[in-house]
Amino acid sequence: MEFLVAPGGSIHGEARVPGDKSISHRSVMLGAMATGETSVKGFLQGEDALATVAAFRALGVEIEGPRKGAMRIRGVGLRGLREASTRLDMGNSGTSMRLLCGILAGQEFSSELVGDASLMGRPMQRVITPLTRMGATIVSGDGGRPPLKISGGSSLRGIHYDLPMASAQVKSCVLLAGLFAEGETSVTEPAPTRDHTERMLRGFGYELQSRDGVTSLRGGGQLRGCEIDVPSDISSAAFLMVAASIAPGSELLLTHVGVNPTRTGVISILKLMGADITLSNEREVGGEPVADIFVRSASLRGIDIPRDLVPLAIDEFPVLFIAAACAEGRTVLRGAEELRVKESDRIASMAEGLTTLGVSNEVLDDGIIIDGGPISGGTIRTFHDHRIAMSFAVAALRAENEIRILDCDHVATSFPDFDALTRGLGLQIASRDGGE
Ligand code: S3P
Repeated sequence: MEFLVAPGGSIHGEARVPGDKSISHRSVMLGAMATGETSVKGFLQGEDALATVAAFRALGVEIEGPRKGAMRIRGVGLRGLREASTRLDMGNSGTSMRLLCGILAGQEFSSELVGDASLMGRPMQRVITPLTRMGATIVSGDGGRPPLKISGGSSLRGIHYDLPMASAQVKSCVLLAGLFAEGETSVTEPAPTRDHTERMLRGFGYELQSRDGVTSLRGGGQLRGCEIDVPSDISSAAFLMVAASIAPGSELLLTHVGVNPTRTGVISILKLMGADITLSNEREVGGEPVADIFVRSASLRGIDIPRDLVPLAIDEFPVLFIAAACAEGRTVLRGAEELRVKESDRIASMAEGLTTLGVSNEVLDDGIIIDGGPISGGTIRTFHDHRIAMSFAVAALRAENEIRILDCDHVATSFPDFDALTRGLGLQIASRDGGE
């Protein structure tokens, strides 16, 4: 599938974007291992979260739905998962694979994890290292990449793990393995990252300590089934925040968006660039902060992105690069080497597309320099990365000619119906079946 996006237009109206991907994954995982039933609403029916649902079904958990975002999970308890009869295919989802590793390392049975071409190329040593220290036996493919064969029957022991990189997936993997470990498991991280696992564990009644930057829990407790209301994904809302900011004459209200402070780096960065963004109706829903977000178009200016905001906006950089292309002056991003190991190398993928559109940029090892200026039109490669596809669709609002975006199927991993929703708000986007 490819997108054809006509140049120009503005963004108007109100929208509720799909549910948060990170929270959706975790709701299935914790619900499956809880005692009693968990009901979820607002669940993201995107391919990534559905891969997690399929994996837990294969591990013997009864799950009803999701239907219109509603799902019921009949928890089997912390020790109730059963051996899957086949390999577990996590599709495109790094979160599913890395968090599941922590859970599967603590089981009596063995498992094998695989994924699509992108996931099979992503680094897994970052979870293998701490899990091995806890006593797990994991065999990977070359260079610490999938497939991952996790042996059953290892008895895990709690460790302290000082994370070498800011990664919520690695932190969550270690904490989830800690549920099955003897004694205490604790983590420290070089910079704060999304804390949905910690919040949700508490929501399931599991005791967790957070003191002086150390998060710890003791194994062998119990998760109690609960009700979860998944907020809209700020990472999906980000495409629309940038769209409404860069397209003159736009006014947009995004409702029920998750605004957990470990995720709002995109709002902070856009505001530093001069964006007109206002939060209202701030409230807490099931342990997660939620708000409505109003965006009006504004003239953006280039900035040096503060390094402490990088982990808090890690998934939003592709579309922030589009904001930088539309800004007056130069934007500099450093300290973002993690972008190189996402669904694609997002520094390289975005740089190629920006160059195609005539936007001057310089690639750095750990970031990029972008000079704002006119955006032409052209054909963009996405490297099968959902966020690259959606970012260049938004860029068309300020382009001089049509933008054709190849290989957009992966948009369905995080933002099903992106084209229909954005078309309703004013983006002149059409999709059509296209070959490779
Ligand atoms: C996620 C953590 C981040 C993020 C990913 C989702 C999570 O990955 O990029 O989209 O749900 O824990 P890293 O932990 O690799 O930074």
